Amino acid sequence: MVSIPEYYEGKNVLLTGATGFLGKVLLEKLLRSCPKVNSVYVLVRQKAGQTPQERVEEVISCKLFDRLRDENPDFREKIIAINSELTQPELALSEEDKEVIIDSTNIIFHCAATVRFNENLRDAVQLNVIATQQLILLAQQMKNLEVFMHVSTAYAYCNRKHIDEVVYPPPVDPKKLIDSLEWMDDGLVNDITPKLIGDRPNTYIYTKALAEYVVQQEGAKLNVAIVRPSIVGASWKEPFPGWIDNFNGPSGLFIAAGKGILRTMRASNNALADLVPVDVVVNMSLAAAWYSGVNRPRNIMVYNCTTGSTNPFHWGEVEYHVTSTFKRNPLEQAFRRPNVNLTSNHLLYHYWIAVSHKAPALLYDTYLRMTGRSPSNHWSITTLHSSRVSFLSYFLPTKSWESSHPDNHNGVITYLEPDILECEMKKWRLNEVLFERSYCIKLRNIRYGFNTILVILIWRIFIARSQMARNIWYFVVSLCYKFLSYFRASSTMRY
Ligand SMILES: NC(=O)c1ccc[n+]([C@@H]2O[C@H](COP(=O)([O-])OP(=O)(O)OC[C@H]3O[C@@H](n4cnc5c(N)ncnc54)[C@H](OP(=O)(O)O)[C@@H]3O)[C@@H](O)[C@H]2O)c1
Repeated sequence: MVSIPEYYEGKNVLLTGATGFLGKVLLEKLLRSCPKVNSVYVLVRQKAGQTPQERVEEVISCKLFDRLRDENPDFREKIIAINSELTQPELALSEEDKEVIIDSTNIIFHCAATVRFNENLRDAVQLNVIATQQLILLAQQMKNLEVFMHVSTAYAYCNRKHIDEVVYPPPVDPKKLIDSLEWMDDGLVNDITPKLIGDRPNTYIYTKALAEYVVQQEGAKLNVAIVRPSIVGASWKEPFPGWIDNFNGPSGLFIAAGKGILRTMRASNNALADLVPVDVVVNMSLAAAWYSGVNRPRNIMVYNCTTGSTNPFHWGEVEYHVTSTFKRNPLEQAFRRPNVNLTSNHLLYHYWIAVSHKAPALLYDTYLRMTGRSPSNHWSITTLHSSRVSFLSYFLPTKSWESSHPDNHNGVITYLEPDILECEMKKWRLNEVLFERSYCIKLRNIRYGFNTILVILIWRIFIARSQMARNIWYFVVSLCYKFLSYFRASSTMRY
């Protein structure tokens, strides 16, 4: 069987989502580990006044591509930026670009999606379902297409307890939903969204489930594979450990914990934390496309790219590692010392939110106001809760899913050359980040000092109101005084 780099040799790859978290890593890895790939067409839209070419230049000038720049300085010539707005009819491709793509594409990686959990249903369907449909229509016209690789999510069927490597029936027929959305106004769509998504937590996951069905049904004549990552985190090893460029998902929470802003979360210590490093997802996708390209399996291949069943890691362990790592290696300008507590008790959670999140933020904001600076801590806490904690809350608290990867996943791993594409999740654990230690000690001292002042204040109030407290206080003070006098006397006797 040809090796992975041999398979990609001379191939033209089409990639969507290359400006996103996963797409960037895939682009870098493909060009670095398969240097004889012929070209990579990246479908990128214009954004913020930048042309697709300018956006690609920005992507490849980031730190992620440092290693590739060193190893293969001419890689830039292989990337062809193509202007494409995926939500437009026919993906807004020009006739010339369409012709080139149809004539020469061999492998498609479809990574683009809206990953916003609170996206309105119409927009989520437009990008995650209709754009996928359009890409499949284009793929069907391609003369030399070998593989269509679709990136989904392990939570597409999170309403099920056990998730196998198969495409399950969709919650609704995507065609019927698309037709209905055409005549419904936005108000009506918003009203029926909770009913439609049912036992799925958000429109993102709902539309990703529909997209899988579209890929299976409409791509039936293509050689299709689906990779389903769980929660994608920073890189494990490649191109270097700990790379991440956004605070979406758990990374945002880890940083908030490291900064001492996030001190409590509603979660069960025993729930599975199904985190998977981005380089493992990318390796799995490249390997899965190679496997389908070489073996031409008769059925659609689905890969659950998860860690829960091979290397179970629980939120309690995540809490321990995140807290201890940031205590040893604190982040600059941390607000408080990192110390996160998970609790599955509703009342306790709200108590800690009030005591550990809101009260310190309000106190510090008051201090900032009094010293003429603009307060932002309460705002940060509120934003953190509305943007991260509440959206991720479905995945954190008490739920765990079992996703199997019996044949497909393990089958691919068996064939891999481990030094080229490492997909083995049994070995993976959270990476550590290095920061300055002295700052953490300073924060710890501030905390101790603050707690001491608080205890003294409470005690003073107590003493003012109770005779018994006064008696105990005088007793303790006189004891301390006697102790000190004894020490002074014994040290003078020695001289
Ligand atoms: N991140 C995770 O934890 C995770 C977990 C499981 C599965 N996944 C899947 O992995 C894939 C990639 O996710 P990600 O985390 O890399 O997301 P991301 O960082 O938000 O990237 C999304 C990509 O899609 C592109 N895109 C969005 N709307 C577009 C449009 N209208 N036209 C053209 N391109 C458009 C974005 O381009 P712009 O830069 O132009 O916006 C960007 O390149 C998705 O399919 C997602 O479902 C991700």
